[in-house]
Amino acid sequence: MKVLVTGATGQLGALVVESLLKSIPASQIAVSVRDPRKAEHLSALGVDVRHGDFDQPESLEKAFAGIDRLLIISSSDVHNRIPQHKAAVQAAQAAKVGFIAYTSVSNAQDSALFLAGDHRETEKAIISSGIPYSFLRNNWYLENELGTVQAVANGAPWVTSAGTGRVGWASRRDYAEAAAIVLAGEGHDHSVYELSGKPLTQEELVAAVSEVIGKDVPVMKVDDETYGKIMSDAGVPDAVVPFLVEVQKAIRAGSLEVEISDFEKVLGRPVTPLNEALRAILNA
Ligand SMILES: NC(=O)c1ccc[n+]([C@@H]2O[C@H](COP(=O)([O-])OP(=O)(O)OC[C@H]3O[C@@H](n4cnc5c(N)ncnc54)[C@H](OP(=O)(O)O)[C@@H]3O)[C@@H](O)[C@H]2O)c1
Repeated sequence: MKVLVTGATGQLGALVVESLLKSIPASQIAVSVRDPRKAEHLSALGVDVRHGDFDQPESLEKAFAGIDRLLIISSSDVHNRIPQHKAAVQAAQAAKVGFIAYTSVSNAQDSALFLAGDHRETEKAIISSGIPYSFLRNNWYLENELGTVQAVANGAPWVTSAGTGRVGWASRRDYAEAAAIVLAGEGHDHSVYELSGKPLTQEELVAAVSEVIGKDVPVMKVDDETYGKIMSDAGVPDAVVPFLVEVQKAIRAGSLEVEISDFEKVLGRPVTPLNEALRAILNA
């Protein structure tokens, strides 16, 4: 059996490979990356490093040759990822890959989250390919909040326009471990896994942050416009501010509230406790 991970020079992909290396021999692991020079450390460990660019479909068929099980990590190129992911699925078909795991998003099938459409289209393309699949519907990375956690540690208030909306934060490392388990394991054909931590409000997250950083953090509830202005004044680039505002709106609308999670079942252990995960990302 040979598995392949795309995006292995990205943050999630690197952790997936790290996890795979603990469970299967390096000789069974391949990665497909845009720049193989960035994966020389993996070659040194015996991982098969291949060139694959979602924007160069011809590179993908070659990259996926001889692969039994493929993990497509969703691309960070949010403006082009539907054709990119479709190219990857077509290449997997051409290379006769036997299984595709795909990192999707919570409730992709009917989510109103502004990012969900891309994942929905990709899931459809994978189903249409006829290749057995597993959809890893990841909730929010706790690491997304790192900048805010650092700001509040330096005395800023926790600013939010997300109201009482809840989020199933979990660490990137837990999502990566789940992906590695599904990729290297058996019994996951045609599965859809909702991977979420316990849904928490902003106040509940802030309580955990306060405990970890050892100081009280005031929560400042504002409307979207004020939130955007505060982010802008804090130095967030103009191009990023609307994205952050959309995230707050989506959280407020409940797009990241997942009550029944498959995380523990897939991991075979509880999700890393929030305080522990916060400490780990702050010390990384
Ligand atoms: N649920 C969440 O909270 C959350 C948060 C952030 C992101 N995400 C999603 O999860 C994915 C993985 O997260 P991450 O933290 O690992 O993000 P990341 O570090 O930005 O990694 C994204 C990966 O996509 C690869 N990529 C971009 N364009 C590509 C192309 N044309 N061909 C091949 N690969 C391409 C990048 O390749 P290079 O290594 O060559 O740059 C990188 O490895 C993201 O891409 C995004 O879709 C989810």
